[in-house]
Amino acid sequence: MSILFQPITIGSMTVKNRFVRSATNDYLTNPDGSISEPELALYEELAKQQVGLVISGHAYVQHPLGCGSVKQNGIYNDSFIDGYRQLAEVVQRHGSKLIVQISHAGRQLAPDKKDLQPIAPSAVTDASIGVTPRAMTEEEIIEMIEAFVQALVRTKQAGCDGVQIHIAHGYGLSNFISPYTNRRTDKWGGSIENRTRILREIVVRGRQAVGTDYPILVKLNSTDGKTGPEYLSLEDVVYTAKMLEAVGVSAIEVSGGIREFKNTMSAVGIKEAKQEAYFAEACKAVKASVKIPVILVGGLRSLAVMEKVVEEQIADMVALSRPFIKEPDLVVKLKDGQEKVGCVSCNACFNPQGLACYAK
Ligand SMILES: Cc1cc2nc3c(=O)[nH]c(=O)nc-3n(C[C@H](O)[C@H](O)[C@H](O)COP(=O)(O)O)c2cc1C
Repeated sequence: MSILFQPITIGSMTVKNRFVRSATNDYLTNPDGSISEPELALYEELAKQQVGLVISGHAYVQHPLGCGSVKQNGIYNDSFIDGYRQLAEVVQRHGSKLIVQISHAGRQLAPDKKDLQPIAPSAVTDASIGVTPRAMTEEEIIEMIEAFVQALVRTKQAGCDGVQIHIAHGYGLSNFISPYTNRRTDKWGGSIENRTRILREIVVRGRQAVGTDYPILVKLNSTDGKTGPEYLSLEDVVYTAKMLEAVGVSAIEVSGGIREFKNTMSAVGIKEAKQEAYFAEACKAVKASVKIPVILVGGLRSLAVMEKVVEEQIADMVALSRPFIKEPDLVVKLKDGQEKVGCVSCNACFNPQGLACYAK
């Protein structure tokens, strides 16, 4: 049997296969950001169709400046716990695991919050939209840490199988690790040790709060989307991965890109095998530097490439987002002999009308 259908252990959690549904904001929330009936149906279907590890779309930890998208789930107070309890139940009912992704928008505040100024480590203009965030005070950094810790605890209270801290895609925490968006000269900026201080604080305090067994995962940027001394380097990424493992992170998903440098995260027009797995090189470097499981996301489109990723120890698991929007039953189809996904990577699915494949 293909290695992709063999189980794997992440900390205390056993996942039945190597397929991960990468966090995907579904624009289907209730108006107050709580989990809706359409979301319960979407997640139950993924679990029913054998996705071993289901990661929910990013839920924001602080209101309102943590909100990174229209129609985004929130997890910034205890009122959201019940919804996540239901979400965990519909996934667990089918033998799959639910991980909740938690995030802060940072300089990428939701586009419908134009009357507010985003906050970030430094006031670096996002040229793609012409918005300049305000540099956070130290007090605000401490508040952000506290908000992440509380949200992390809520996912455990809700009975979820684990949490994933979003350190990717140009949102708040990835703003801190990149020298491009973090130009601070205090203890939260400068050296990579300082730029990752906020992560260390969140994970150490989170671990203390939830104990040693609860899976704490991260989704980690491996690049800003541009190379050069002013951007996030692979050396910094490997340092960050090792540090996160040392303070108790259970698994690392490797991604990349920030909104300003378009389409790095979700590359378009993937047709051939050589275009697939576009963060594989960085992922391989992360995998070689840690012992905890590593997950690769980004452009995985054929069974052969996914198998190669695991067999050649580039990663232990494969994560997909867009392909599961078009084919929630993809895992079953791949098991039954389908060789490629149907998704054409056109990005029409970034559509606030609600998660669906809008490919023409
Ligand atoms: C509609 C949509 C929403 C997304 N929402 C999130 C999110 O909430 N959190 C996250 O980490 N990534 C999010 N992503 C990025 C994906 O998880 C993934 O990293 C990226 O699309 C590359 O994987 P793929 O080629 O399999 O789509 C989203 C992608 C899409 C298409």
